Amino acid sequence: MIRKASRGDVPFLRDMVRHAYYWRWSVPETADVPASRYVEGWGRPGDRGLIVLDEGFPVGAAWYRLFSAGSPGYGFLDEETPELTIAVVPSRRGRGLGDQLLTALLDQALEDGFPAISLSVEKDNPALHLYERLGFQPVKEMDSTLVMRAELESS
Ligand SMILES: CC(C)(COP(=O)(O)OP(=O)(O)OC[C@H]1O[C@@H](n2cnc3c(N)ncnc32)[C@H](O)[C@@H]1OP(=O)(O)O)[C@@H](O)C(=O)NCCC(=O)NCCS
Repeated sequence: MIRKASRGDVPFLRDMVRHAYYWRWSVPETADVPASRYVEGWGRPGDRGLIVLDEGFPVGAAWYRLFSAGSPGYGFLDEETPELTIAVVPSRRGRGLGDQLLTALLDQALEDGFPAISLSVEKDNPALHLYERLGFQPVKEMDSTLVMRAELESS
């Protein structure tokens, strides 16, 4: 079951950010974007999240938010393009939940009127396959990281 995220889900979203950005947390001196930036003040215009539940408990989340040029995320393209974060708890990975979450979130973004969505991913993260399959394409390349963008269109 997938439901919309609310302010009450912020502690869970914080946990999920740590999963999504774990490698950066392990070297905090290089973390030029604090992970809290993806969650703090949740509920501002442009924020949207989905939570996937297993037996009533949250086991994964996908969400997006708009960032300003002065306080961007790693996958920042512009102030009109929301940036995606996604994670599933380790014990539930590889069962299709990430695919379901992301598919639903892209539908939601289209419904919310966004023409595109971005993300940042390590080139060797297996999640890259999921992103490519769901229409994300690389638009910027750094040393070990890609920024990807998906055009949203109704099918
Ligand atoms: C990426 C992630 C959200 C996918 O969720 P999931 O429920 O495991 O995904 P699915 O079962 O729907 O599988 C989708 C893809 O995820 C990848 N995947 C599967 N199991 C995985 C695992 N244990 N770890 C990482 N990625 C995995 C696979 O490449 C799969 O692609 P495929 O269908 O082409 O084989 C999840 O694995 C995760 O939380 N990973 C750690 C956090 C992270 O890296 N987030 C993205 C940061 S950019």
